[in-house]
Amino acid sequence: MKALSSPIRILKPNNEAEKEIIKVRILERGLFLSEDEQNALLTAISKGARKVKLNNKHVEVISSPSPDYDKRNPIFVPDLSYDLPQELESLVPINIPTYFDFKNLWQKLLIVLQVTGQTVLIGEKGVGKNHLCSAIAQENSLPLYDISGSRNLTEYDLVGHYEMSEGRTCWVDGLLPFWCKNGGLLMLDEISLARSSVLARIHSIFDFRRYLVVKEHQNERIDRHPHAYAVVALNPPKGEYLGTQHLNIAFLDRFQVISVPELSFEEKKRIIQERTCLSNDAFIDSLLDVADRINSEYKQGNFRDFVGLRNLIDCCNLIENGLSKKEAIEISIINRFSDEEEMSRVEEISSILVE
Ligand SMILES: Nc1ncnc2c1ncn2[C@@H]1O[C@H](COP(=O)(O)OP(=O)(O)OP(=O)(O)O)[C@@H](O)[C@H]1O
Ligand SMILES: [Mg+2]
Repeated sequence: MKALSSPIRILKPNNEAEKEIIKVRILERGLFLSEDEQNALLTAISKGARKVKLNNKHVEVISSPSPDYDKRNPIFVPDLSYDLPQELESLVPINIPTYFDFKNLWQKLLIVLQVTGQTVLIGEKGVGKNHLCSAIAQENSLPLYDISGSRNLTEYDLVGHYEMSEGRTCWVDGLLPFWCKNGGLLMLDEISLARSSVLARIHSIFDFRRYLVVKEHQNERIDRHPHAYAVVALNPPKGEYLGTQHLNIAFLDRFQVISVPELSFEEKKRIIQERTCLSNDAFIDSLLDVADRINSEYKQGNFRDFVGLRNLIDCCNLIENGLSKKEAIEISIINRFSDEEEMSRVEEISSILVE
């Protein structure tokens, strides 16, 4: 339960900048605090209590609230950390950049993970789905595992396989049994691309059964670790919010769905400013305008690719580190488009940046 890495910086939107996040551990898995219980906990904290029983919930206050926390209207979040085996410590992310909680997702995701153990995050490219999960893993000292969906993903990639070692065959666990046994945060990225037969294989871990049977390995039954959390990250199909019909319904039925909204111009600007030292405000504004124009063509189906926040941060970093604007824009924006016609159209749109 010791914190492995320094806490992640989480910045709330301006109007809530004063809110203080108080971490609490609830012993019973699957429970968090109702509004009344949160108020009762605030009263108990003000009297100096750190361990409280509220209704049937054993609550421990993990973070030390600052002396004037009551004026700051604190928000409670569950602490998901647990006694981590030492050999897994290297899987806990470190040095994740500041997470801006513009859309109030931090508390929501933590509560959903505490209560149900898993969720789907659906949002356009670059809205911060992976960043949010990495930040939560760092803050809670959780090992982070990543499975990327594709047509080529097989059951063996997930559950494991036999290998020859010193003349003997031995079984090697895949990522899924490893996570099931050891706990941590599993990210299933773009899993909608995986074949239904592969998804069906893992249904039992994500419903009330909470176990995996590895039929390839003596029908080994692996119960899901109480701290094995999962997040499925999805992009809405082709730029428009069409919901999640494209993902196998039986699979999706096992998850709650959190929608991650797109970032506004000002929010993207704030992130770029935090991540680069580029002081040229007017250039960042124009860069965001250019990206918006390119991306609206993508949404209309005119371009096959998209310019994400990641590319814009890279572009600014390249300029800051010696490349000319023209070179940086070429590398981080124009060359992403493989079609010649698209490339020259993107070059034309971005020409205002080098004038
Ligand atoms: N709220 C945020 N705070 C700080 N940085 C953010 C935030 N949202 C996005 N970013 C930054 O924007 C870039 C894209 O974020 P990320 O990779 O998490 O997006 P994603 O939703 O997973 O995208 P994709 O669907 O393409 O995988 C990263 O560099 C990330 O650090
Ligand atoms: Mg992602």
